[in-house]
Amino acid sequence: MVGNGATGSGTESETGAGTGSETESARSAGTPGSAGTPESAGPAESAGSPESAESTESAGPLAGSLVGVIGAGTMGAGIAQLAVQAGHAVAVYDALDGAAARAVEGIGKRLDSLAAKGKLGTDEAQAAKDRLTAVDSLSALKDAVLVVEAVIEDLGVKQRLFAELEDIVDRDCALATNTSSLSISAIAGALRDPGRLVGMHFFNPAPLMPLVEIVEGLATDPACRDLVRGHAEAWGKTTVTCRSTPGFIVNRVARPYYAEALRAYEEQTADFATIDAVLRESGGFKMGPFELMDLIGLDVNLAVSTSVWEATGYDPRYTPAWTQKEHVAAKRLGRKTGRGFYEYGENAAKPVPSYEPERQQTEPGPVGAGAFSLYRSFGRTATSYGDGRILIDLALDPDNPGTAAIAPAADTPDHVLDEAIAYLQSTGKKVVIVEDVPGLIVTRTVARLINEAVDALYRGDADEDDIDTAMKLGVNYPRGPLEWGADLGFAWACEVLDNLEAVYRDGRYRASPLLRKLAHADRIMDLPLMQQRALSFERASVDEVTKAASAAEKAAAAHRTQPAARPDGPFYERPPVQPYEPSRDQPRDQRHDDPQPHDHPRKDQP
Ligand SMILES: NC(=O)c1ccc[n+]([C@@H]2O[C@H](COP(=O)([O-])OP(=O)(O)OC[C@H]3O[C@@H](n4cnc5c(N)ncnc54)[C@H](O)[C@@H]3O)[C@@H](O)[C@H]2O)c1
Repeated sequence: MVGNGATGSGTESETGAGTGSETESARSAGTPGSAGTPESAGPAESAGSPESAESTESAGPLAGSLVGVIGAGTMGAGIAQLAVQAGHAVAVYDALDGAAARAVEGIGKRLDSLAAKGKLGTDEAQAAKDRLTAVDSLSALKDAVLVVEAVIEDLGVKQRLFAELEDIVDRDCALATNTSSLSISAIAGALRDPGRLVGMHFFNPAPLMPLVEIVEGLATDPACRDLVRGHAEAWGKTTVTCRSTPGFIVNRVARPYYAEALRAYEEQTADFATIDAVLRESGGFKMGPFELMDLIGLDVNLAVSTSVWEATGYDPRYTPAWTQKEHVAAKRLGRKTGRGFYEYGENAAKPVPSYEPERQQTEPGPVGAGAFSLYRSFGRTATSYGDGRILIDLALDPDNPGTAAIAPAADTPDHVLDEAIAYLQSTGKKVVIVEDVPGLIVTRTVARLINEAVDALYRGDADEDDIDTAMKLGVNYPRGPLEWGADLGFAWACEVLDNLEAVYRDGRYRASPLLRKLAHADRIMDLPLMQQRALSFERASVDEVTKAASAAEKAAAAHRTQPAARPDGPFYERPPVQPYEPSRDQPRDQRHDDPQPHDHPRKDQP
């Protein structure tokens, strides 16, 4: 793999099945409720538009040779710019009259703009423009060493195109498709020589996004795959290699990020802005799922979810959410229509998360005052423990005091909850109270992301490093899901999922067989579980754990080992503690000083 140093660009590029042109870039958009103030979703070095990609001119494997780009829309134009900046002659073809010429003109302007900003030499820009042409027939691609197809997401259209192209180009010309959701094997099925087709999945905007997924179909010739990968790397991209499975790596492993937020909303856990804030400020994600879907386009995001769901035989892990379908049906598609989960435009109110007002800590005095216990979520509700406990959601950014999302049980006295809030606020955290749903918000999301990544590994879709790299560069996650698994404990993730599955019983939270195996290994090796590891972030690689798993399984078969003790203790306990013991003889609403069960107001959408 080769990196171009353009780390996490902040753009979430959801690749749309059939609606790709509606995909938007995180860079060009404003914050919800704003009139479009640019606010990067990513690190400070994020650039502003495709034109900000600096020169990537490099002596690629076949620099100077002809690259054909078919389809002159959003992606085709970006890919052509990349190829020409890398030193290739580039011919752009589009079936729509004038589309290729318009794309060439647009690329020329971007090259001029780069030169004006000093990011590209004037001569270099001119030479690149001279190497770029719009062509009006496929036969003009006859001498190409590589053809990248970026036409509409339609299997029949792509198959017909490649079948025609196969008769035009040389036998040595590699054929690549930028499809985001179609099977490479299916597209290649239309070729006499299916071995010459490879998936070359760019992210939008192509000149800027650092990742390319190199996707192998059943018949893909490894030499052809390596050639295409070599081109992508010579163009400055980091590549990951994967099998042609629904959603490839990024678009599949990322599904839970949206799905769990949507389910949490449907369960009235919190409103959109609060769920987004918790995932950003406690989870450490660059953008919350709702603001991200607004940016991507709800229709594009839904199309990807639906395509993965259908392609996996309606696996309940990917069932599209009713809330999203309803928004799409109502044409609330996100920024592009001025309204999605949030409203945009000058007069739109900026959505505000429901942070708790300041509380004061009380001095321990009367029996029980000042006592509270915070427990980590293991995927059960606080109420299910029957001891009035308060759960605290997973926090993944130890350096940032951030936000603590807590859920009191139905029988947590209000004064106990107030003490917990006051304590957390005294440590510099903002506090939000969420409904007591299983797995809260970050906990269930991260456990599912780990499971998706482990399952991709289990099925041999990609290797460990490529999965984590893809998620960090393709969707800008702060860490790879397998790194999280190793840090937090696969046993923790598996336990969270098992507890969720026990409640929902819909197959959505079923643990991958490999996750279960890794969880056994965690327990047998007596690895510290997440209470310790969540805070220390020490990394054990999946590889190490997998190797240890085999050894541990043998040992376990020889003599049954007792699983290591679960960390059932509280995450934080404030002394002196007079444990809260509700009397089982009294009716629930008379068990404590404040007779009212904690009341969570319905969180309406902003
Ligand atoms: N937009 C994204 O974020 C994104 C990201 C990754 C991959 N993709 C994939 O890239 C491909 C293109 O997406 P896009 O967003 O650039 O689409 P787009 O709609 O912007 O452009 C598609 C272009 O293909 C042309 N076209 C249609 N049929 C053709 C044919 N038979 N021959 C030649 N040209 C033809 C159209 O005229 C149009 O100019 C799709 O497969 C999409 O899934 C899109």
